Amino acid sequence: MSVSKKAYGLAKKVQTGVPYRVFNGHAFRPFKVTFEVTYRCNLKCDMCYLVHEGREKEGKELTVDEIKNVISQFTRKIPVTFTGGEPLIKEGIMDVLRYASKRNACSILTNGIMLNEERSKEIVDMGVSSITISVDGPKDVHNKIRGPRSFEGAVEGIKRIQEYKKKLGKNGPKVHLNTVILPSNIESLHEIVDLAAELSIDNCSFQILDPSLDRSGLNLHNELGKYMKPTIHLVDKIDPKKIERFLNNVDKIIKNKKVNMKFVPPFNRNDLIDYYSGRVSLNKYTCKLPWSSMIISPFGDVYPCFNYKIGNVREDTISNLWNNFYYKKFRSLLKKNKIFPGCIGCCNMIYR
Ligand SMILES: C[S@@+](CC[C@H](N)C(=O)[O-])C[C@H]1O[C@@H](n2cnc3c(N)ncnc32)[C@H](O)[C@@H]1O
Ligand code: SF4
Ligand code: SF4
Repeated sequence: MSVSKKAYGLAKKVQTGVPYRVFNGHAFRPFKVTFEVTYRCNLKCDMCYLVHEGREKEGKELTVDEIKNVISQFTRKIPVTFTGGEPLIKEGIMDVLRYASKRNACSILTNGIMLNEERSKEIVDMGVSSITISVDGPKDVHNKIRGPRSFEGAVEGIKRIQEYKKKLGKNGPKVHLNTVILPSNIESLHEIVDLAAELSIDNCSFQILDPSLDRSGLNLHNELGKYMKPTIHLVDKIDPKKIERFLNNVDKIIKNKKVNMKFVPPFNRNDLIDYYSGRVSLNKYTCKLPWSSMIISPFGDVYPCFNYKIGNVREDTISNLWNNFYYKKFRSLLKKNKIFPGCIGCCNMIYR
């Protein structure tokens, strides 16, 4: 691990750990922000929580200038991530990325389809730190989940980014793959590790399926009662033998090929099997993310992770919102509970 990564990790630990222990819900400055720039999308993936949440509930999206103004309220250098919906269909997104990558560590999470020559070149050129492309299986499996030719689009996009990095002699952006583990892809998932090696991917992450239908900034509300109910019974089950086979195949591939991979959350073998069998012991997990992180919806609503409304950037400043009544209440309840039953499926669950 590089010195700067180590220093960042240490600073984040102190920034988060100290207020977590000492205060009742108050936090130091945000250390990470995620913008969902639009809920519009060019795909309709089977498992997507936004598809299930009903993203047609549109509001007035933040303009490019409004997004830039919000970014300017965060400390320089901290990670700023852009996701959606599909972030690359947002009008003016390249302008936003250019602004953000000048002052922050800028990341994009995309389905990759819109990474044409021009955008790929610009993304490499402007110094975006990382780009994560969602790939949910080899060609046929991915296209069944995400729609016709979406695999080809994603792979072509990845190749363009890699080519421009070479042409422009740049190390960045780091290119990552993100894959949701589903009953429909478990038997071919190991092939993604081969694909990652072929495409010189920096990291591939296998993400557990989130069964909740409220993980975006749509349908926000002010009560937390519903998150006290577990949702594990909603996770689609996967035969443990299939998971074992996937893990064994991955182990074999990784021995021969240089690929970095991780599970999010960082589940071990048994946890993964238990999760997809409908068994989760919440006592093992905790979460400190809301002490360091904030999410902003396309309409300017601020929420910590699931649909609990903190406020809106059109009505208040980031520094006021960060420690307002709602954020502090959310954090103090989370600290008391260690983790909420409704957190199941979130990639930020960590071992206690
Ligand atoms: C909502 S998408 C937005 C970014 C972009 N449209 C994409 O697909 O990468 C962000 C990530 O969430 C993942 N995702 C969608 N639904 C999910 C679910 N129910 N559980 C876990 N991850 C999910 C997607 O596969 C993608 O990697
Ligand atoms: S591309 Fe991303 S946002 Fe669009 S439907 Fe698929 S997972 Fe959801
Ligand atoms: S684990 Fe729970 S509290 Fe933590 S980020 Fe996820 S949903 Fe939020």
